[in-house]
Amino acid sequence: MTKWSLSFRLWHWLHAFVVLGLLGTVFLRKTFLSWRDNSEILAAKLSSMQIEISSEQGATLAKALRAPLWEWHVILGYALSFLILYRLALFFTPSGKQNYTDIRAASLHKKMVKIGYIGIYTVLLVMAGSGLLLNFQEELSLVKETTKSIKELHEAVFTLVWIFVALHIAGVVMAEVRDEKGIVSDMINGGKH
Ligand code: HEM
Ligand code: HEM
Repeated sequence: MTKWSLSFRLWHWLHAFVVLGLLGTVFLRKTFLSWRDNSEILAAKLSSMQIEISSEQGATLAKALRAPLWEWHVILGYALSFLILYRLALFFTPSGKQNYTDIRAASLHKKMVKIGYIGIYTVLLVMAGSGLLLNFQEELSLVKETTKSIKELHEAVFTLVWIFVALHIAGVVMAEVRDEKGIVSDMINGGKH
């Protein structure tokens, strides 16, 4: 019997792509497309062309450069919200529940891995909920303080996402090299029980 059904593998790789994409948009927003750094670069370059702009104008230009990237954060955010629903449906299939039946019988290490998966599902649920609320703050007439708290939560929980992703990728590679040969290729070709 196949270990991972085609629909589960499809979910895993689409989900991995979307989460890495979301982390990528945040990375670019905070580095190469940071409005603070870019507004200074723009102001300095324009000044060397004898065009003087205020810091507010610099910020407006830098934020305009960042806008198309951030549209991708929201598009990938919608995709993540859909993939969370897809994962919930998969819990009703053998592939989707195999990691969560008989947790007591698992070794301590496996128990921690499984708890980690439940943890990341909870974290991503919070990310999707808070992200959607931020995205529709005007339509929902959210007051400023509420939006600020939601944004703080969204940003704080973000740290947990990249920590999980780094540990997860390192973990499956180590398992593959050590004592669980084929763990990664099983998630590609389906594997066998
Ligand atoms: C790109 C490199 C990645 C590789 C090679 C990889 C590989 C794997 C493998 C082999 C498993 C099965 C582990 C097991 O048998 O318990 C797995 C499960 C899982 N992966 Fe990844 N993964 C990657 C990226 C990601 C990313 C970016 C996420 C996003 C959060 C993610 C989320 C998950 C989750 C939640 C499970 C548990 C599935 C379940 O509920 O049973 N993976 N991954
Ligand atoms: C893995 C999931 C996600 C991660 C890691 C993530 C990360 C972040 C981070 C770090 C910020 C703050 C950026 C900053 O101000 O420097 C942010 C803002 C935001 N995120 Fe997400 N996010 C995720 C999912 C989502 C989802 C599902 C949505 C829903 C559409 C979303 C919509 C937003 C919005 C609207 C903002 C506010 C942007 C602004 O103030 O201009 N995010 N996200």
